[in-house]
Amino acid sequence: MNTQLLEGVSGIERAAELLAAGQVVALPTETVYGLAGHALDPEAAARIFEAKERPYFDPLIVHLPSLDWLDRLTDAAGDSLVQALIRQYWPGPLTLVLPRRSIVPDIVTAGLDTVAVRMSAHPLFRAVLSRFGKPVAAPSANRFGRISPTAAAHVIEELDGRIPLILDGGPCALGVESTIVAPRDGALCLLRAGPVTAGELAAHAPILAPPSGSTIQAPGQLRSHYAPRTPFRLLSSAAESDTYEGPGRAGLLAWSRSVRPAQFAAMEVLTPRDDPREAAARLFAAMRRLDSLGLELIVAEPPPPSGLGVAIMDRLRKAAAPR
Ligand code: TXA
Ligand code: MG
Repeated sequence: MNTQLLEGVSGIERAAELLAAGQVVALPTETVYGLAGHALDPEAAARIFEAKERPYFDPLIVHLPSLDWLDRLTDAAGDSLVQALIRQYWPGPLTLVLPRRSIVPDIVTAGLDTVAVRMSAHPLFRAVLSRFGKPVAAPSANRFGRISPTAAAHVIEELDGRIPLILDGGPCALGVESTIVAPRDGALCLLRAGPVTAGELAAHAPILAPPSGSTIQAPGQLRSHYAPRTPFRLLSSAAESDTYEGPGRAGLLAWSRSVRPAQFAAMEVLTPRDDPREAAARLFAAMRRLDSLGLELIVAEPPPPSGLGVAIMDRLRKAAAPR
C-alpha cells in the first residue's frame, strides 16, 4: 500500500473519505499522532490492530466528534464528576474510562465493560471528525510497544506502507499521551499519568493509584512500552551522569545540562530552560534521534518528580523496563 502524506484542507477531506470507507488514517492530536478508524465499525477497528501489530487484549481510546456522543457510547453522561471533568478539560488531553453501552464494538474495548473516551483539541483532528461525523478509535500511531509518534515523520518510520494516509499537522504541542482516569465511587483512579496532572485532578476528587494485582486495568500499562531498540537505562539522579562509567558507546538523554559529559558519545537535552512542558514536547523525538545513532546504550536523567515530570518519568521507566 502507498502511504500518502497530506496537509490542510485536501488532507482533511481525504481523511474523512477514507474513514467513511472503513480505512485507517494517521491524524495529529495535541498529545501524539493517533491511528484512527471508525469506532463503531469492527472491521475498521480490526485494521488498527493489524497495522500496529497490537494485541487484541489492549483496548482503544474512542475520540468523540461532539459531546452528544458521550451519552450514546457511555452510561455515565449524567454523572456530576464526569460532567465537571469534561467542562474543565475537554477538548483536551484527558481520557475517561466509563461504563460502556452496547453500541461500542467488543473489539474496541477488548471485551471490557468500560470504554475509554476523549475529545481531542487539535484543530485538524476536530475538522476531520466533524466532517466524518462519527467517533473514531485512535491509539497512538506507532507499532505496538514502540515510541509514540509526535511528528508525521515518526509515523512514516512506524507505519509506512501499512496505511493509506498520514495527515501532517506538524509536531504535537504536548508530546506525551493523555492522562487516563476511571471515576470510581466519587474518586478518580489514575490509570496513566499525562498532561493533566494528579494535582490538578485532586481539585475534583480524591485520586487513587490503579489497583495492583491480577486484573489488568489498562492492558497498555504493560511495564515495557515506549521502547527504543537501543538498551535504555534510567539514572536515579541527573548528577549521576557526571560520574557515569558505562561499557560501550553510550548516549545521554539529559534533562537541562548544556555541556555533554565526555564519556557520552551523543547527548540530547530535553529542556534547556528546565521546563517540564518543553521536555514533554521534545521527549519522544529525542528518544528517536538517540535510537537512530547505533549506540550500545541510552542513559536517561530523571525529571523532577512532580507535575508533568510524573508523566515523563512514567514514559522513561517504561522505556527502561526489561523487555
Ligand atoms: O493521547 C492519547 O491518549 C493518544 C492520542 C492518539 O489520543 N492515544 C493513546 O492511545 O495513547 P493508546 O492506545 O496508545 O493508549 C491507550 C491506553 C492503553 O493503555 C489502553 O490499555 C488504555 O488506554 N485503555 C483503553 N481502553 C481502556 C479501558 N476500557 N479501560 C482501561 N484502560 C483502557
Ligand atoms: Mg500507545
